Amino acid sequence: MTTYARIVATGSALPARVVTNADLEKVVDTSDEWIRTRTGIRERHVAAEGETTGDLAFRAGQQALKDAGVKASDLDMVVLGTTTPDIIFPATACLIQNRLGANGCMAFDVNAACSGFMYALGIANNFIRTGQVKRALVMGAETLTRMVDWEDRQTCVLFGDGAGAVVLEATDAPGILATCLHADGGYKDLLYNPVGVSVGFKDEKNHGVRINMKGREVFKIAVKTLDALVGETLTAAGMQETDVDWLIPHQANLRIIEATAKRLGISMERVIVTVDKHANTSSGSVPLALDTAVRSGKVRRGQNLLLEAFGGGLTWASAMIRY
Ligand code: UT7
Repeated sequence: MTTYARIVATGSALPARVVTNADLEKVVDTSDEWIRTRTGIRERHVAAEGETTGDLAFRAGQQALKDAGVKASDLDMVVLGTTTPDIIFPATACLIQNRLGANGCMAFDVNAACSGFMYALGIANNFIRTGQVKRALVMGAETLTRMVDWEDRQTCVLFGDGAGAVVLEATDAPGILATCLHADGGYKDLLYNPVGVSVGFKDEKNHGVRINMKGREVFKIAVKTLDALVGETLTAAGMQETDVDWLIPHQANLRIIEATAKRLGISMERVIVTVDKHANTSSGSVPLALDTAVRSGKVRRGQNLLLEAFGGGLTWASAMIRY
């Protein structure tokens, strides 16, 4: 009998503070009109001083565990997709594991930039399918605004903070049907933050301790790559475009999302869009969108969900899920 990983429940968390496009007009030379028409973003949440990625992920994870009716002590795995960990080590997943009271199970972070949650989901899925893990808490969380240059209008308008989580459980009935994970480090210079541990906590090339992005190039590659990725995911799951009930995409840019929906031949009514409210929360984006869709009643049990993400690395990853 095949073992599947099924999503038992979801959760999410956002910082209380909302920063609108109008607020940013006062900080940099931009306009609400430019941000809305180029990206679809209207506002974003920004973490308070002292509020960390781990705090947001903890809240999202707690909510998912409560709704799943799963005790933290029953978890076999805690995994967090993030590129903005609380500290260099221990992994933020270990800090969360301890706060939840899941001590003893494996806990680790996955850094795949914006694809972090999708990578974490793919890893957890394979652990469950091989029988090594029965219950996993998979989270994606970021406080990207911590490394945003608030004087750089090309990037500061794009990002927000937030977290999402899912509880996975091993079952006999289909849950996650396929996952596809990819990266091409040849594109490392298109989207990066140059500061690091091993390079000596300094920005050697003087590119700025901040998110650096060649937006237009990333945009083009994202559209092309996601086009191929959704095709690959459908094939891996043995499905057609018409089988997809909901596309739950990475929330970076509404125009990229629309291009992927067009490729699938599905109307925007069947696409979960939260980029207007959350902006780009990197690893937080897909699980936040999923939880929002579940809580709004849009996503229902038995439906087929296509999740995908794209980000620095470059990385891209997807999952086809029977919810
Ligand atoms: O999640 C990780 C993956 N990341 C992505 O998927 C992001 C992909 N890229 C994008 O979403 C888009 O490329 C951006 C939203 C970043 C930029 O949109 P664009 O349509 O590619 O604009 P652009 O970079 O080509 O810039 C167009 C113009 C430029 O002015 P000129 O050279 O035409 O005079 C920019 O200087 O818009 C200007 N501009 C701005 N104007 C007002 C750039 N940023 C701003 C701004 N406000 N915030």
